[in-house]
Order: sequence, then C-alpha cells, then structure tokens
Amino acid sequence: MSSDSADGSVNRTRRTFLTAATSVVGVAGAVGVMTPFVGSWNPSAKAKAAGAPVKVDIGKLEPGQMVVEEWRGKPVYILHRTEAQLAELPLLNSSLKDPDSTIEGSQPPYIKGVDRSIRPEIFVVIGLCTHLGCAPKFRPEVGVTEFNSDWGGGFFCPCHGSMFDLSGRVFAGTSPASQNLVVPPYSYEDKNVVVIGVGEEVA
Ligand code: FES
Repeated sequence: MSSDSADGSVNRTRRTFLTAATSVVGVAGAVGVMTPFVGSWNPSAKAKAAGAPVKVDIGKLEPGQMVVEEWRGKPVYILHRTEAQLAELPLLNSSLKDPDSTIEGSQPPYIKGVDRSIRPEIFVVIGLCTHLGCAPKFRPEVGVTEFNSDWGGGFFCPCHGSMFDLSGRVFAGTSPASQNLVVPPYSYEDKNVVVIGVGEEVA
C-alpha cells in the first residue's frame, strides 16, 4: 500500500526524480529567474541506460540557478553557486557530520575542499539522499523558519528530514542520512561543457 515498500522502490526513485526536477523549475520560477536553457547532445536512451557519459552545456546557467540531468538513471544536480553561497560553506563545518567528506565513495579523489567541486562556483552532485534514496529538494532560500532561522540554503530531503548544505554535506542533529550527497565522476570538455561520467584524471 505504501509507496515506501521495497517493491515500489524503483518507481519511487523515478517518481522522486521527476518531483525534484519539477520542484527545481518551480523554485526558479518562484524567484523570478528564467529557467536556463541547457543544451545537451546526449547519446541515445539506450546508451544512457548503459552508462554512457552525459555532456551538459552550462554556458547559460546563471549564479543561483540549478538544472537536473540524468546519468545512469540517476538525477544529477548542477548548481551555479553565488559568491555569497560559497563564502558560507566553511562557516558550516562545525554543524556537519562529515565536513571534509572523508567517507569512502563520497566523491572522486580529485575533488577536494569544502566546495567539493572542480570549479568552485559549479557544483555537480547526484541528487539522491544517502539515507534511503529519495531526491532532496533544492532550497536555496536563507533563513527558512521551517528549518531554522540560521538556514543558509541547501538541499532538504522531505522523506525523513535530512538536511544538506549547498555542497551536499549533511547536517548533524536530526538528519538520518550519515553520508554526504555523492559527487559523481565528471570533467570539463571546455569552459561551458560538463561531462558527467568521465573523471578528470582520464578526460
Ligand atoms: S531518504 Fe532522505 S531522509 Fe530518508
């Protein structure tokens, strides 16, 4: 009966991905920001299912905007962080479970630091909660009282309440997720093209 049953997990993952994609567009619309055009010249659906890399044009992704792509059947969030959002990250370390992302599998070895990215302003992460796999919602607003007045923006998983910052790092306290959101292997083909699925060391 419940969509949380084991048998429904695949469909739930798919559904929550679509929900995330929809909510992202909704957030962008709510703050009066145009949803960016994101051109991609991806392989066929069959090739994507087999795990082929996905190229994403981020040339028109403005600061504060996020888009969702699909890679290996998983949602990948690509967020263009603002200078203010980047400045907030090191201030949060004492509030997080794993501020340096030391848990194996959290990110590729060439990803370092609190921004967890190759280029600080562009954050690439798999949009699946590390608790039970729901898709966290993008909540960039500051001081949201439903969380607390110190909320500086991040990702919120409504399934069981896990909260992550804008580097996908999970907050200590009530968040049931114990691991940060996972950064996939990726690289840049050029300044405006992210290649998801091909790591920097082999690009
Ligand atoms: S799946 Fe995200 S908090 Fe449980």
